[in-house]
Amino acid sequence: MQFGRFDGLHREYVITNPRTPVKWINYIGTRAFGGFVDHTGGALICKDDPTFNRITKYIQQLPASDFKGETLYLRLKTDAGLRVTSPFFVPCLDPLDRFECHIGLGYTRIVSESLGLRTDALIFVPMGEQREVRDIRITNISDGVVEVDAIPVVEYSHPDALLQFTNADWLPQTMQSRAFSDGDFTVLLQYPFMTRETRVNFLTSNLPASSFDTDRKQFLGDNEYGAFRAPLALLQAELGNSQAQRGDNVAVLLHRLGKLPSGMTRRLIVQLGQASSIAEARPGIDRYRDPATVESALEAVAAFWDDYLASLQVSTPDQSADAMLNVHNPYQCYVTKTWSRYLSSYQPGLGARGIGYRDSMQDVIAVLPAVPQEGRDLVRMLLSFQKRDGSAMHQFNPLTMEGSCGDSLEMADRPHYYSDDHLWGVLAVAAYLKETGELGFLDESVPFYEKGATGEPLESGSVLEHLLRGLEFTRRDVGQHGLPLLGFADWNDTVNLSAGAESLFTAHLYGRALLEIAAVFEHLGDQEAEQEQRLAHDEMRLRVERAAWDGEWYVRYFDAEGRPVGSSKDDKGQIYLNAQSWAVLSGFASAARARMAMDAAYRRLNTEYGLKLSAPGFNGYDPKYGGITTYPPGAKENGGIFLHPNPWAAMAEAMLRNGERAYRYYAQINPVSMNDRIEVYECEPYVYAQNILGDEHPQFGLARNSWLTGTASWCYQTATQWILGIRPELAGLRFDPCIPPNWDGFSARRRFRGKLWQITVRNPAGVSSGVVETRVDGQQWPTNLVPPDLPGTAHTVEVRLGT
Ligand code: GLC
Repeated sequence: MQFGRFDGLHREYVITNPRTPVKWINYIGTRAFGGFVDHTGGALICKDDPTFNRITKYIQQLPASDFKGETLYLRLKTDAGLRVTSPFFVPCLDPLDRFECHIGLGYTRIVSESLGLRTDALIFVPMGEQREVRDIRITNISDGVVEVDAIPVVEYSHPDALLQFTNADWLPQTMQSRAFSDGDFTVLLQYPFMTRETRVNFLTSNLPASSFDTDRKQFLGDNEYGAFRAPLALLQAELGNSQAQRGDNVAVLLHRLGKLPSGMTRRLIVQLGQASSIAEARPGIDRYRDPATVESALEAVAAFWDDYLASLQVSTPDQSADAMLNVHNPYQCYVTKTWSRYLSSYQPGLGARGIGYRDSMQDVIAVLPAVPQEGRDLVRMLLSFQKRDGSAMHQFNPLTMEGSCGDSLEMADRPHYYSDDHLWGVLAVAAYLKETGELGFLDESVPFYEKGATGEPLESGSVLEHLLRGLEFTRRDVGQHGLPLLGFADWNDTVNLSAGAESLFTAHLYGRALLEIAAVFEHLGDQEAEQEQRLAHDEMRLRVERAAWDGEWYVRYFDAEGRPVGSSKDDKGQIYLNAQSWAVLSGFASAARARMAMDAAYRRLNTEYGLKLSAPGFNGYDPKYGGITTYPPGAKENGGIFLHPNPWAAMAEAMLRNGERAYRYYAQINPVSMNDRIEVYECEPYVYAQNILGDEHPQFGLARNSWLTGTASWCYQTATQWILGIRPELAGLRFDPCIPPNWDGFSARRRFRGKLWQITVRNPAGVSSGVVETRVDGQQWPTNLVPPDLPGTAHTVEVRLGT
């Protein structure tokens, strides 16, 4: 069953049935001002930080039919009296003759038709602006005259989003609204009393409002036994002009659009913003009342995305892959870069998560081809949360820049650090260097996290020093097999063994990081330093190979007593995916073991919806393992299809030159192919979700936690760098595809170090990999690595695969 379709031409997904199984969302703006809009026009908007400066009240847990944050009513004068309806479907839920929600790049556009009216509402945040714009066109598509009013509504949250839910005494006494006349227009201001002079939210529009309300009790009426589905104030000729002195604040503007003859359109431009005062806000408000300003702001958003997506465009035999790689996947990567794991339908942004050190270090890698400078800025910021001992804070709040240990504080008797966090920085920095060649970044000075009494950093070090300290931390922090201690957890947050347990994941990540840093030293010509890192790699490789092979696959942990976890001898959790794929990514596994391990993963973990993270699932809470056993079998990390590690398995298969399987792992989780199975899958088919219930769960195939997941970054990296094989290296761009043998080739356009590379790959012999010929600008080239500094700004590269 479908709820919409892809529109490649406009780079949109178009939802055509508003009754999606869960709310499907899109993002607008940035963390500086923005949030998400759901497909029924509800919106969670904040400025700078969703925890401490939230603007709209959006409660994810309420039923889909409920009002959330923002909406729009239309009111028609009919012979039978006033008729109130919702062009966004929610909250009135009247049937619509037509519904389209266009999920665009940085905007959402909702088009609907009912009762003889077409409403076309474009919702976005102009670049660099602190306002959400809703550009709404209302057209009479009937043959007769329609008299209509348009009524946009916002419900405010207290800026302290958590307090909104935990304090029902002080908080409602402080929430106030005031109305201002601004020439012909009305501006509704809202603020908690204490920020009245310093920070105010505003709602206004480009048309005169005949009345307004800001007190929810007045607007809904009858002591709030009136409901958003049919607010009683809308049954009166005019709203009550309430200026809330306390309580639940809304902003409602009634615009009388008048009698629209057949074919006539009225345009209403609504702005929701924040400023230090009305005086500060006024000039911007004036500008955005002008449709020309709105139009050019929208063009600027489109230009940003044109440029962003131009960093890579591909044409392959798989249209679903093209849809993801050319539009939706890089878009999601930018969203995850912006929001980390902070704000979505599943991440309420109430302070617990903030920006994840580990998560963002992975997210950033995928945006480097498009926005290297933004990537560099983020990496620098993340590194400032690394501690002097080399380990890192798990997450931080981007407004207060306060770091935290995350959930590792949950269990008092477990260590309070994550063993992997700091190592991801090595991968991110290496990726930046490979993309840009800007080796000077290594010398940039970045503070460590610890601060003195007056808040100044106690120590700073170069970016390189940060990376080396991270590696040094892991080198020292080892247990009885010489493998890295687990800490509270590694990448898998939910296996929380007692202190003294060891992590194979962290061993592998450390191995991968050592390969990356060794390549950097090699490129710098520092043989001694390179050698040192390669020796460290060898040392850890031997320990892993000695201790962790179980016979058919690699174990995943050793517990504090030194017993393996993730072994055929275990009753539950016998095999873990990452222990197999990362044995390849780390360069530790011998060829024979690598193949066996990956085959075991295929046999034991693969399903039609993707690879499970582990199997079989635990069936009951067991404090020995911690978080993983809080889930029923088949859910999330406990035997669920956790998607983030799926591209790692595909990458490992590509490294092992199994193009068929690499592609299968990539393609089988492509959400585009879920478009026909939404009744099972439920989430947005235009972005990756974090998890799908596994085959031990009665709801096998059901996805959750879409948008903010490392799946986006790793699917993009795997597909572009390891399957299509267009791979930045320090010395240039490598062309090394590993594709399904039945592909006859593909083409791509890649921006790399300021030049445009037009790439054609041909596969006449029907192989998976193996470049037998490379031509650059028509000339034979001796290797499949092309240096970045060829004269000229555009080059063609022709690659032929064969044996
Ligand atoms: C979530 C977390 C991520 C973690 C993963 C596995 O996606 O954001 O940091 O690695 O779960 O537990």
